[in-house]
Amino acid sequence: MNGNLFPPSLIDRFGRRIDYLRMSVTDRCDLRCVYCMSEKMTFVPRSQLLTLEELERIGSCFVELGVKKIRITGGEPLTRRNVLQLIRALGSLEGLRELVLTTNGTLLPRYAGELKAAGVRRINISLDTLKPDRFRRITRIGELHRTLAGIDAALEAGFERLKINAVVLKNRNHDEVVALTRFASERGMDISFIEEMPLGIVEEHDRYEAYYSSDQILRDLRKHFQLLPTTLSTGGPARYYRMADSDIRVGFISPHSHNFCDHCNRVRLTAEGRLLLCLGQEHSVDLRRILRAHPSEEGPLQQAILDAMKIKPRGHDFDLTQKSVLLRHMNTTGG
Ligand code: GTP
Ligand code: 5AD
Ligand code: SF4
Repeated sequence: MNGNLFPPSLIDRFGRRIDYLRMSVTDRCDLRCVYCMSEKMTFVPRSQLLTLEELERIGSCFVELGVKKIRITGGEPLTRRNVLQLIRALGSLEGLRELVLTTNGTLLPRYAGELKAAGVRRINISLDTLKPDRFRRITRIGELHRTLAGIDAALEAGFERLKINAVVLKNRNHDEVVALTRFASERGMDISFIEEMPLGIVEEHDRYEAYYSSDQILRDLRKHFQLLPTTLSTGGPARYYRMADSDIRVGFISPHSHNFCDHCNRVRLTAEGRLLLCLGQEHSVDLRRILRAHPSEEGPLQQAILDAMKIKPRGHDFDLTQKSVLLRHMNTTGG
């Protein structure tokens, strides 16, 4: 604690309160999704990663500063060795309301039960197609049945809510939005459809040509389902609709067609300890350096995080028509 009666909280220049930390624990992954990575990726050397103890220290500092939700991301977070140790530690932090995880699902058969026991309440699982050959094409090296087995394991473990995340690309999987919605709803899972964001250079497709808007998806779905708009927020970027005959939520994450930066409540930590203030900009602070310079003092770390709020940008300026993109691929931030 910093000794003050009221601990400082994280508020940026635009008056936005930051209470959500997305923590990437590795940039590695057992898949190579075409919108996320290039075919040949160089990963951060293991020696440059934050240790699990350092990740825990940073997580705990953020919770003291008022963060209520931590999402563990990657790369694929479950490929990080001993990640459960970190998840258990974060799960026991007083003041943290929600510990959640975004995963590609392949390792859930091994970890689902332990994640639940460690205090993870909700899991988001990425699944863009139900066709094995397409799954292989989109993930380059993946096998659909492994992710499906992970989904089954998560359902069996009994999380509070599970959500499918589908990145929709025109002429790759846009014709599956109805099937994916049916797949999720039949299993009692929510689903979010995501517009691709231009992070890193990808070779497989032209992002402008592959754009398929959330509004178009909504029109496609409404031919088959009755969807009611809601004002619900999970503290994430999705706009949610609800199915008329159940409490299944269908979300749309639409950085291009419905920018949500005005309500941004989050920051991101990369696996190397860089605090990124916006997914779509490069403003960042090297927390690893500060941690290592002050191994037994929390004050400097806390101050660095407070100071970082002064450089949080107003928002991203993703533009699919531009040839220039942020060089950082999505796997370094976990989205
Ligand atoms: P919930 O807690 O379930 O609402 O999760 P979430 O949507 O916050 O997180 P998830 O990890 O499932 O991410 C879903 C998609 O939202 C990914 O494609 C992320 O890149 C994207 N996303 C999350 N936060 C932001 C953001 O601040 N800006 C942008 N542009 N995209 C974001
Ligand atoms: N644009 C949008 N979403 C992406 N994801 C990965 N790369 C991109 C991208 N370029 C998604 C994954 C996962 C979530 C963390 O981010 O599919 O569901
Ligand atoms: Fe791995 Fe997720 Fe990136 Fe696919 S989107 S390569 S599953 S980190």
